Amino acid sequence: MTRKLIILTDPGQDQAAALYMILGAPQAFDVLGIVATAGNIDLSYTTDNCLKLLELAERTDIPVFAGCPRPMSGTLVTAEHVHGPTGLDGPDLPDPVTRIEEEHGVQFIIRTLREAPPGDITICSLSPLTNLAMALVEAPEIGSRIKEVVAMAGAYFEVGNITPTAEFNVYVDPVAADIVFRSGIALTILPLDVTHRMLSTPDRLGAMRALGSRCGIAMAEMLEFSESFDLKKYGWEGAPLHGPCVPAFMLRPEIFEGRHINVSVALDKGLTYGMTVADWWCITDREKNVFYVRDGAPEAYYTLLLECLSTLP
Ligand code: BDR
Repeated sequence: MTRKLIILTDPGQDQAAALYMILGAPQAFDVLGIVATAGNIDLSYTTDNCLKLLELAERTDIPVFAGCPRPMSGTLVTAEHVHGPTGLDGPDLPDPVTRIEEEHGVQFIIRTLREAPPGDITICSLSPLTNLAMALVEAPEIGSRIKEVVAMAGAYFEVGNITPTAEFNVYVDPVAADIVFRSGIALTILPLDVTHRMLSTPDRLGAMRALGSRCGIAMAEMLEFSESFDLKKYGWEGAPLHGPCVPAFMLRPEIFEGRHINVSVALDKGLTYGMTVADWWCITDREKNVFYVRDGAPEAYYTLLLECLSTLP
């Protein structure tokens, strides 16, 4: 069955890979719209980057909406140190000729969920959760209309990547994450514990480039750029490829392992600000609010990504 998706994203090279996995599986996904999010880079860049990626893939039929320019609390933390000054460094992509929609991203989320039958739409989050949380604050009744939220968010066993305890997407907007995590909506998260298994080794990037298509080559160039930071940081044979874990989980859940547990977001300003505290051993009686994916099969993951990429121009 085809899943209707609203994508929340802040491209970002790994978000580009996630988007191309989604676009490369049209039998599985129907993208209703993309909400550009402030995260890896400022909103003005993430909107442009969404448009550029759609143009490269010849999918300008998909509308792009600008979301909020900053998180629900505090100032925006960005990750140019990983993704480059445009957020999508690597290939030289032309300036977009298409334009974003006039409607605000939060209004798009609310309107689309209100118009659709309950349980029809999945939220695919590749970024901080700001715009979904804002929509839930403005129109709480939409929560019960969402089929599920599948998000790249959090870390526990692998600890943090932007602070020693916090994962970037949650750290940028912990208040938003807390709202979504406590909303009662079915929620699956793909944390660093699984994304750190999915290493973009030279062979895997070479296979993308060898597709010879413009999306395949651009994808390899993007990931070659963004991996340099992680290669130095971790000293692994490849960098973790975070974003595509979200669509891969929806396409091939059997290649992942996880369990239903409670995950709470630490909001106290201090060493653990933005940490996702995962009750993996069910030590507390806190409500099980998250399907927490802890592991996955890297070969199957990269095969899937390559299959999807190979269908794009
Ligand atoms: C997340 O942080 C961002 O920099 C990546 O694009 C990914 O969404 C991983 O923690």
